[in-house]
Amino acid sequence: MTAETPTLVRIAPSILSADFAALGQEVRAIEAAGADWVHIDVMDGHFVPNLTIGPAVVKALRPHSTLPFDVHLMISPVDGFLDAFAAAGADIITVHPEAGPHIHRSVQHIKSLGKQAGVSLNPATPAKMLDYLIDEIDLVLVMSVNPGFGGQSFITSQLRKIEAVRKMIDKSGRDIRLEVDGGIDANTAPQAIAAGADVLVAGTATFKGGPDAYAGNIRRLRGA
Ligand code: DX5
Ligand code: ZN
Repeated sequence: MTAETPTLVRIAPSILSADFAALGQEVRAIEAAGADWVHIDVMDGHFVPNLTIGPAVVKALRPHSTLPFDVHLMISPVDGFLDAFAAAGADIITVHPEAGPHIHRSVQHIKSLGKQAGVSLNPATPAKMLDYLIDEIDLVLVMSVNPGFGGQSFITSQLRKIEAVRKMIDKSGRDIRLEVDGGIDANTAPQAIAAGADVLVAGTATFKGGPDAYAGNIRRLRGA
């Protein structure tokens, strides 16, 4: 694991909303602006209707930041790519249960690579899916939009799911992050935090206004 600032709520800017022609610079800029993690959205045009970046880009970005790389895989079948993302420099690797035949095995595989394992729940995927995974995982990612694109509106029903997952985590007594992804802005961030989230992904809300605005944008998301 690489260095990170200890904070109550972590902000993980999604570089999906960054300038793709200047990704290295963008990652350096969000680190300087106070980001805690770098959220990297990997999409395959099949599991989700959009195509983004692969392990080569993750590897190219690695020297540009000491922050944890939070790699969100929206690709199917996912298992064949876990090694490549681990080798490229991912610290946390998050998978969707719908993206492979055996989510428990995918989680075990990620752990065997020495990485933190996350499981992501789509808006219609129940929290119950975690019943037999909670003792293995390091992170739960609640999708508050349908995966595929930045700039969508927060789906309010997911607040109930965040609350349910928070209870499961607390009951487990394990050190598990609860991350929320999609439509996070200055209005929805406090709602997600109140429901129990401790990591907020934010693409649009971080990168709007260009590099000079990043520090203020991140501060507003923290509610500071
Ligand atoms: C959606 C991605 C998100 C997305 C968030 O599939 O997983 O990380 O980039 O973007 P905003 O913050 O713009 O909703
Ligand atoms: Zn994401």
